[in-house]
Amino acid sequence: MSFRAKHLLGIEHLAPDEITTLLDLADSYVDLNRSKSKHSDALAGLTQINMFFENSTRTQASFELAGKRLGADVMNMAMQASSIKKGETLIDTALTLNAMHPDLLVVRHPHSGAVNLLAEKVNCAVLNAGDGYHEHPTQALLDALTIRRAKGRLHRLSVAICGDIAHSRVARSNLILLGKMENRVRLVGPPTLMPSQISEFGVEVYDDMREGLADVDVVMMLRLQKERMDGGFIPSEREYYHRFGLDAEKLSYAKDDAIVMHPGPMNRGVEIDGLIADDINRSVIQEQVEMGVAVRMAAMDLLARNLRAEPKEVLV
Ligand code: NCD
Repeated sequence: MSFRAKHLLGIEHLAPDEITTLLDLADSYVDLNRSKSKHSDALAGLTQINMFFENSTRTQASFELAGKRLGADVMNMAMQASSIKKGETLIDTALTLNAMHPDLLVVRHPHSGAVNLLAEKVNCAVLNAGDGYHEHPTQALLDALTIRRAKGRLHRLSVAICGDIAHSRVARSNLILLGKMENRVRLVGPPTLMPSQISEFGVEVYDDMREGLADVDVVMMLRLQKERMDGGFIPSEREYYHRFGLDAEKLSYAKDDAIVMHPGPMNRGVEIDGLIADDINRSVIQEQVEMGVAVRMAAMDLLARNLRAEPKEVLV
């Protein structure tokens, strides 16, 4: 077993063998989650605090369920009603919580880098549940597990990540993970939704869906992140769907057994045709949600093992 990390802040910091260790453990948690008795005591006695400064449905729910199934005491902070609204800084909130001796802190924040900053100030394990445009490591890991189970491997696959790449932490974490595991990644979308430093990643970039999807094994669609746009990125949703929305015709350019993924929440009829999203022969969107719980169980279990092994560091 190899997993050395103290925190899970991004895929950037994980080695390929650590990714494999985590996915292997997650596979065993899929079996536990499918059984009648879903409890383990891997996190018994530990306290998990979830701090979500941005809206979330599936990520927060699955972190909560993951912690409960492993026997942790789980607390969800209602950040909308917290002292942050009274002007308290993120760091002061974190230090206050830290004084309550949590063992695992799960944080989602709209600013890139905020979770890393917080990890420097507390003496528990911190898991990044999405920070700004930066990283969303558990999403990339659950996507990786979904791909590995559907395709039987996680290397030498051709994966097209499509749509709003510029605003997507999911795309960024997936790009890094799929690259580390030696897959070929293509980015497909309009030039206005491509990040400016895209050449650094060594990927192929397409602005035509049919060319971008040709012969790929995996089609990963992204939500058009309207809340992160200040206008002018796309002419209209109708036009966007026409050129970049995944429908049966565009999907026919991918391999016959290509799988369709989407991290959710979906804008049906904007980035994806509802019929494709619901097609159980092609879409693995529900499996992604299922894998999300297992991957978060595995991540917290591994961090807790390291926590128990290491002497607690002094707060800086
Ligand atoms: C993603 C996120 O929050 O970055 N959603 C998720 O975690 N399932 C993607 C998105 O919001 O589009």
